Amino acid sequence: MNSLTLKIAAVCVFLFAGLSLSAEEIKIKIDKQYLNLPVSHDQDRSKMTFKVDGEPDLSVVIRLAAGNADYWVFKDVSHLKGKTLTISYDGNSEGLNKIFQDDVIVGQDNLYKEKNRPQFHFTTRRGWINDPNGLIYYDGEYHLFYQHNPYEREWENMHWGHAVSKDLVHWEELPSALYPDHLGGMFSGSAVMDYDNTAGYNKGKTPAMIAIYTAAGADKQVQCIAYSLDKGRTFTKYEANPVIDSRHIWNSKDTRDPKVFWYTPGKHWVMVLNERDGHSIYTSSNLKDWKYESHVTGFWECPELFELPVDGNPNNTKWVMYGASGTYMLGSFDGKVFTPEKGKYQYTTGAIYAAQTFTNMPDSRRIQVGWGRISHPEMPFNGMMLLPTELTLRTTKDGPRLFNLPVKETETLFTPVRDWQNLTSDKANDLLKEFYNTDCLRIKTRIKLSHATDAGFNLFGQRIVGYDMNSNTINGVFYSPEDMTSMELSADIYIDRTSIEVFIDDGAYSYSMERKPDTNNKEGFHFWGNNIEVKDLQVFSVKSVWN
Ligand code: FRU
Repeated sequence: MNSLTLKIAAVCVFLFAGLSLSAEEIKIKIDKQYLNLPVSHDQDRSKMTFKVDGEPDLSVVIRLAAGNADYWVFKDVSHLKGKTLTISYDGNSEGLNKIFQDDVIVGQDNLYKEKNRPQFHFTTRRGWINDPNGLIYYDGEYHLFYQHNPYEREWENMHWGHAVSKDLVHWEELPSALYPDHLGGMFSGSAVMDYDNTAGYNKGKTPAMIAIYTAAGADKQVQCIAYSLDKGRTFTKYEANPVIDSRHIWNSKDTRDPKVFWYTPGKHWVMVLNERDGHSIYTSSNLKDWKYESHVTGFWECPELFELPVDGNPNNTKWVMYGASGTYMLGSFDGKVFTPEKGKYQYTTGAIYAAQTFTNMPDSRRIQVGWGRISHPEMPFNGMMLLPTELTLRTTKDGPRLFNLPVKETETLFTPVRDWQNLTSDKANDLLKEFYNTDCLRIKTRIKLSHATDAGFNLFGQRIVGYDMNSNTINGVFYSPEDMTSMELSADIYIDRTSIEVFIDDGAYSYSMERKPDTNNKEGFHFWGNNIEVKDLQVFSVKSVWN
């Protein structure tokens, strides 16, 4: 930390005289890319305020380390070069003098190589993430915005983080896209491209990317818009925000997470908004003036509504509506009213929450990304995005159902290294010994039961697949295969350092979980069950997306 002393030399410390809460402040003339801040969970959260050239800019809460830091977080200040940043802190201010600017973040050398850093899932460099927001494709880039607390590995200070990808698997993290403001934290929402300039923000041939988000204040949650003319790098908030304030109508603080899309037949915008007890539909011609149309009860947070062909047939479509838990209804939609016909059903369970799908895909696929409620022991970041998956509607014995499978782009990450057929479970367990020390792996298998009992697969004592043929459950969740007399089950298992995702029977059901091996377990990779046969067993090595 020798260079730190030099960096602090540029920092002056002032004490506000006469304030009962002794808020101290430092001033830094910005000439580097990042501001590095030390965090200690021994400290309470206290308010930190940033002013740019004397003008109030941002206020967050942070556990600024007074002594040793548990980890460091950062604020990207590259857009502030040449300006003076004033930082004041209401808490124990000893840490103020440790804040320093640099062109790298603390821990840069080891970035993405940390012990518990997922290797083929998106995680943020520092801080907490939850819901994916504003998933959109534009001009060769997939945009992943997301709920982000850049200042701590727990939920707070909601910003919209931002990452872009050309292929849905390799992501580059960019500076925050939306910052908390006087209306509140930047809660979940969506993004559209305003090709027809309905909101009036387009510039020449450049269409505005418009983010529609919830600002969550202490008393109410309101819906707002912001536009970007530089591919989502920077957003300008609409000066007359909010565009919807419905707290009084619902007598509820829970009005949030707008999902907006263009409804082609009606030539208007549709917003699905979670309000109190379900999803409301609003319509608009310009993204600013919204008209309430209808409401479907029984959903909580993070709405989705989209049309899918059944078995790929464009002449036979259904609309899918779901909320944050992913339970869904199938029905019809006329641009104003969603009429539920069937449901609710469940296609995925476990660590997944608040999944959203991409708008403006370059092809006809419906691609979903879900938040993985997974933490990474001892890491300065928390939460992750699960693998991007393609959602399809396929006819089953019970009628049309959602299927969920990793997108084809993920295939580039996996190389087949072993392929065996018709093994006993003992033999399979023996063959898998060579992979005991591999931290990331994909295992594709099909087992055949010979007794109507239960069977499955464990990873160092952790149950990955537990198929109970008596009560028809997989890990406790009801599951009945397409052929209900079948004694077989297939599972495609994606094992990352801290998470496991399992896709059953070609995506008919899927689930995700934290990877929690029992460190004393000697069984390793372990198929179990009464005389089961391992019909297929394929093992794939995994390429890190961070190399
Ligand atoms: C879902 C959610 C959303 C909200 C956001 C806040 O996980 O509670 O309803 O907008 O997270 O971070």
